Amino acid sequence: MIDDLRDFLDALEERNKLSTVSGADWDLEIGTINELMAERQGPGLVFDEIKGYPKGFRVATNLMHHEIGQRLAFGFPEEMTKLECVADWKRKWNKFQPVSPVEVEDGPVRENILKGDDIDIYKIPTPKWHTHDGGRYIGTGVITITRDPDEGWVNFGTYRVMIQDKTTLAFYASPGKHATIMREKYWAMGKPCPVAMCFGQDPLLFALSTMPLPWGTPEYDMAGYIKGKGIEVVIDPETGLPIPASAEIVACGFSPPPEEDSRQEGPFGEWQGYYASGTRDEPVVHIKTLYHRNDPILFGQPPVKPPVNTWFPIPIHTATFLWNELEKAGMMDIQGVYVHGPGDRIIAVISLKQRYLGHAKQIGTLAGAFLQGGACTGRYIITVDEDIDPSNLDEVLWAVCTRCDPEHYIDIVPGFLTSPLDPMLNPDKRAKKDYTTAKVFINACRPYHWKDKFPPTNVAGPELREKVLTKWSDLFKDV
Ligand SMILES: Cc1cc2nc3c(=O)[nH]c(=O)nc-3n(C[C@H](O)[C@H](O)[C@H](O)COP(=O)(O)O)c2cc1C
Repeated sequence: MIDDLRDFLDALEERNKLSTVSGADWDLEIGTINELMAERQGPGLVFDEIKGYPKGFRVATNLMHHEIGQRLAFGFPEEMTKLECVADWKRKWNKFQPVSPVEVEDGPVRENILKGDDIDIYKIPTPKWHTHDGGRYIGTGVITITRDPDEGWVNFGTYRVMIQDKTTLAFYASPGKHATIMREKYWAMGKPCPVAMCFGQDPLLFALSTMPLPWGTPEYDMAGYIKGKGIEVVIDPETGLPIPASAEIVACGFSPPPEEDSRQEGPFGEWQGYYASGTRDEPVVHIKTLYHRNDPILFGQPPVKPPVNTWFPIPIHTATFLWNELEKAGMMDIQGVYVHGPGDRIIAVISLKQRYLGHAKQIGTLAGAFLQGGACTGRYIITVDEDIDPSNLDEVLWAVCTRCDPEHYIDIVPGFLTSPLDPMLNPDKRAKKDYTTAKVFINACRPYHWKDKFPPTNVAGPELREKVLTKWSDLFKDV
């Protein structure tokens, strides 16, 4: 059972998927090694003896850029296909029974508790990840914990965090994100927002923190449900927030209203592969207590230019939600949903068995409306027939190339919400804060009204294939 980051690193090591690097520099070297390794789909990395830092103060990266990391974190068996993982997560999600966290008095996170003048966030060997980053980003694999002041429930969200000084952190949470809504509620009451930022933890907690769970659903309860036991937490007395008892590093403090304090945040090498959102004033957190384990490990998940996937190789956080929303809206005979492209959110593919005229178009347009929650989200929505595996982009492209006449089966609809991180916002739109984009709907299903006359595919039938494979099994055994 993986209960913290250290168990997770052990599990990677057992599978020969972890390397230790000694002597790297926090200033661009760790970030570039991570980039080169992620591009090569190489092992997870633990950096120790970082230049200027004592042995034991470590940084772990490249843990989730490869499938094995995500499979371990979520408990997906290796033999499950990616589409089956999406379907499995959808099943689990639909049966969700909250399992509350369990409060404990003590835990490894309390091995070091620093307050007042003893707080110096630079003690943590935080990399400058990308050449033009505006500073050192401690929060890339972060979970930011906040409590709704009206409803009392506790949220996790991953929002990037830049060090401003020894005790001050700036964090960028987009409009509409749960922490954005919560902090604005505190500020409207004239109060600072209590915040706990956790910079190294069980990767399942991190993964859930990046998922758009609905408003009111605490990620702690979801993590407890997946693990079959409540997550152990200790309460930070000053903020009252529950923090994972086995976390590596947690900064607890308060975020004052921006008119009291906000700082320049960015530029940052973002997940679409650009420094698109530049520099802006963003809210800060003043650290009141810094907790860390002995020999703490900072968990880094910095963006790497696509096609490296900075989110997760299997798009359970987008495809599952889209699939569920379509079914809730009454859409029948969906065979599979998958989302490709940077952030697993730009090219949505829905495979369906067409039942009636307009079925594919209805599903495509609904998908365009439902798939949201990030820059250039769902820019392309593609519907394909049931014989196409939506997780296989080559098959999807084959369908687009051979079953879609662009004159009649591609629609471009302007005016959907995107975000300031969208690199395609031209300077005029950016100045006007017109964060909108068009979406492209591609219907690559055989045209419904003549689908029975559509030429058959030239693949051998299933029985013939099976018979030939059985008879010639020696020929195929190693391929
Ligand atoms: C590695 C990574 C970094 C992210 N960074 C940010 C960020 O800086 N700001 C942001 O608003 N969302 C960011 N996201 C997306 C949010 O974590 C995601 O939308 C999540 O659902 C937010 O939680 P919430 O729904 O509780 O607001 C990031 C996601 C990942 C995987």
